[in-house]
Amino acid sequence: MTGGTILGIETSCDETAAALVRRSSDGSAEILSNVVLSQISEHAAFGGVVPEIAARAHVEALDGIVRAALEDAGATLDDVDAVAATVGPGLVGGLLVGAMTGKAIAAARGLPFVAVNHLEGHALSPRLSDGIAYPYLLLLVSGGHSQILLVRGLGDYERWGTTIDDALGEAFDKTAKLLSLPHPGGPNVEKMAASGDPKRFSLPRPMKGEARLDFSFSGLKTALRLVAEANAPLSDGDVADLCAAFQLAAAETVADRVRRALARFRDEFPGLANPVLGVAGGVGANQAIRAALLAECMAAGARLVAPPLVLCSDNGAMIAYAGLERLEAGLTDPLDAAVRSRWPL
Ligand code: KG4
Ligand code: ZN
Repeated sequence: MTGGTILGIETSCDETAAALVRRSSDGSAEILSNVVLSQISEHAAFGGVVPEIAARAHVEALDGIVRAALEDAGATLDDVDAVAATVGPGLVGGLLVGAMTGKAIAAARGLPFVAVNHLEGHALSPRLSDGIAYPYLLLLVSGGHSQILLVRGLGDYERWGTTIDDALGEAFDKTAKLLSLPHPGGPNVEKMAASGDPKRFSLPRPMKGEARLDFSFSGLKTALRLVAEANAPLSDGDVADLCAAFQLAAAETVADRVRRALARFRDEFPGLANPVLGVAGGVGANQAIRAALLAECMAAGARLVAPPLVLCSDNGAMIAYAGLERLEAGLTDPLDAAVRSRWPL
């Protein structure tokens, strides 16, 4: 069946988000609205996401965000054919708010409910943005995850690599904290790096050259801390140079893993004319990392599909889209579907 119009709800971390996505008659997916409310200011004073504050903020905001998603699309609940909500992985308090709201709308309107894995939302976002075909490689780099996935089909994922310690976004955030830059760290490190000299300080490239496709970022973070301590007190110029050195090390590390993954992908799918690397997760917004990935893809004869920034970081459209594909495959969930703090793909 073709899925019609899906309302997607995302509340797994610190973004309250809702969106409407429709399968058009030509087979493409159309984002009718995509409303994201970031809780950054609520958590800024604490230097990270506070789960209890996040859950309360979702309670206060979600009804209005769903209403805004309907209004932006010029729609009412009469136009919605199914409801999808993130039920994991993530912070349980927030997941409960989104899942219960989604289920309540589905129950009240007699609509199918789809319980979506947040990581599947990220994994399918290059299909939402660019309509690419299965199979493809996905680099997921967010605050909670750093993974290289083979996306063979809906629900058919093979994890080729993951981080053995920190996620890449987490490493950006910890670097920012260490250098007294405001939360969230990633965008602020990138901003400072723009005026820094990436070559002044030398930092390690963890796992570079290793055959396995895993990541490790805690050694990079420790090396940065030691350099920062050795050069204290830090001037603004020092901070900019450290940010630039960190960003370059991160980009080269990711590029090295991706180079190997693309080679393996080619070995596994030798007949595939146009191999694709998709990018997802908030760190995918980083221009230096995007540039490094583009260079690797060009060298490997692959296509880089990096969705617009709003589809890289957490959003409701990716959840609505994952719900749409699931609905079309006949995969709906009962209204007692549980939320899950941990849920590997
Ligand atoms: O996917 P996302 O919005 O949320 C989840 O973690 O699921 O990713 C947020 C992460 C944060 O760690 C943030 O610092 C990082 O993505 N990030 C960036 C940039 N923008 C966001 N990291 C590096 N450069 C950026 N421009
Ligand atoms: Zn995410």
